[in-house]
Amino acid sequence: MRISLPQRFSRAAATYETAARLPRATAKRLMTLVTPRLHTPPRVALDVGCGTGFLADEIAQRWPRAVCMALDPAEAMTREALRLRPWVLPVVGDGAVLPVRPASVDVVLSNLVLHWLNEPEKAVAQWRTCLTPGGLLAVALLVAGSFREWAETCERAGVSDSLWPTPSLATFASFDEKSVKGASRVLEDRIVVYPSARTFLASLRDIGADSPRPGQPPLHAGVLRRILRVAPRPFPVTHRVLYLVLPAEGETVQNQSILLDRPFRKTL
Ligand SMILES: C[S@@+](CC[C@H](N)C(=O)[O-])C[C@H]1O[C@@H](n2cnc3c(N)ncnc32)[C@H](O)[C@@H]1O
Repeated sequence: MRISLPQRFSRAAATYETAARLPRATAKRLMTLVTPRLHTPPRVALDVGCGTGFLADEIAQRWPRAVCMALDPAEAMTREALRLRPWVLPVVGDGAVLPVRPASVDVVLSNLVLHWLNEPEKAVAQWRTCLTPGGLLAVALLVAGSFREWAETCERAGVSDSLWPTPSLATFASFDEKSVKGASRVLEDRIVVYPSARTFLASLRDIGADSPRPGQPPLHAGVLRRILRVAPRPFPVTHRVLYLVLPAEGETVQNQSILLDRPFRKTL
């Protein structure tokens, strides 16, 4: 039986909070990029793909009076977010077709979600239309170059890499500093060192991020054994994170570009 993407994330709702070390770190990082750019505290904040609500903690800490909407297609995730962070307004919905009126949200945030969408650049454009004048969109997502150690290991084992693919940096070229006034981008490599490739896969499962590449079946035991035989121990895994901060459409905000041409490396 094929399990849908929201079902996989729902299944991981109980284990997510303790397994999700990287999302916790990137949520904090994202907030350090967006907070200095907002001139007034937002009244309405929307977290797209909220998971169990790491961003809700950051929002409550920085902007305690803001209404904090937490949207996710995985119903169990939104339930867990509400249980752990009762100040959120949970919404079960799809970020690809955001059920939000134009110009109604002061800050749209999204942490490690966009790479799960089929057309992430279209989603970014739509999310910007939800912003009130002076509002900001701030997203962190994984881009190509992520999980390269896994891809190399699969190649050595002679099997195809069946992990969910991440979009290229070029996908977001229309949101760079030249195209959008006031846009800023940061690219970071975050390296998580797992005891083994098996524990890496277990951590993907525990956060619900173990959906196979579209059209591919999940790894079966024989293939997995071949991969594990050639995988180094410990097993470092690169996560290439793109952070994008964009003003509302049609606004001319002073450019505060912080693009790093070469990614810097960070070990969690
Ligand atoms: C790696 S988790 C990140 C969760 C959370 N943002 C955090 O910081 O911990 C990815 C989340 O994206 C959600 N997601 C997947 N597809 C989505 C979509 N089309 N629209 C909105 N959220 C989606 C998943 O259900 C999951 O909760």
